[in-house]
Amino acid sequence: MPNVLILGATSDIAVAIAAKYANEKYNLSLAARNVKLLEPIKQDLEIRYQHQVDLYTFDATDFETHNSFFQSLKEKPEITVCVFGLMEAEDRALEDWEICKKMIDTNYTGAVSILNIIAKHYIRQRSGTIVGISSVAGERGRKSKLIYGSSKAAFSAYLAGLRNLTHDSNVQVVSVKPGFVDTKMTEDLDLPPLLTAKPELVANKVYSGVRKGKNVIYVKWFWRYIMLIIKLIPERIFKKMNL
Ligand SMILES: NC(=O)c1ccc[n+]([C@@H]2O[C@H](COP(=O)([O-])OP(=O)(O)OC[C@H]3O[C@@H](n4cnc5c(N)ncnc54)[C@H](OP(=O)(O)O)[C@@H]3O)[C@@H](O)[C@H]2O)c1
Repeated sequence: MPNVLILGATSDIAVAIAAKYANEKYNLSLAARNVKLLEPIKQDLEIRYQHQVDLYTFDATDFETHNSFFQSLKEKPEITVCVFGLMEAEDRALEDWEICKKMIDTNYTGAVSILNIIAKHYIRQRSGTIVGISSVAGERGRKSKLIYGSSKAAFSAYLAGLRNLTHDSNVQVVSVKPGFVDTKMTEDLDLPPLLTAKPELVANKVYSGVRKGKNVIYVKWFWRYIMLIIKLIPERIFKKMNL
């Protein structure tokens, strides 16, 4: 049975993606920095779907361990989904370099570190799929998402470049821009219900997008157009706006 590796597997979006792939008869390799939190997720998935679920410790910011982490996988995954991410309060990130650096290191440097290793493996074997959960917040720099948005912008650019690099090697790279999603990350925010997706919708879009060979997925279709409008606003007006 094919295997899916999920990086940042304690995330609400990751749990939904794991359930979707288990339901589609994939074995799972779940990786997170606190493996204890994965135990109940594994138990639940094994009871519901009777597939193999292996657990691994993985910290996105512990760059030196990424090579040995990938070598330690019992089964090499056909699909890798990079879900981990960090969104701290922007005012705190501006004040405190350690918080700022942690966000950049998680959302960008950590993702590049592990995905370089996995991409090279996929290029060598001339097959494989990488899915990166980025964000519409990366589409234009804004004061309300100064560091989170710019780290996701860098991640989106990396995924686009990786797609270009691996195209001739039969490797698929999918960028996912979910828009608002109802998860732990956003539980303190007052999100507009119409614009907000459930993690299960993200999971369904990831699964179907990979099968259809999509390059970029906007989970709710209108986010593509919302962001297009935002990107078209002239800078001299945009810099005065409260976005
Ligand atoms: N929710 C939204 O509206 C939304 C919108 C667009 C994009 N996204 C992106 O979607 C992804 C999943 O987020 P979510 O909404 O599901 O939120 P979440 O439940 O808070 O998930 C964030 C995950 O990232 C993991 N993580 C943080 N730092 C890590 C590190 N150093 N190493 C490994 N894992 C680390 C967390 O693990 P721990 O359990 O160890 O803390 C957690 O599992 C993120 O990349 C986020 O930026 C979310």
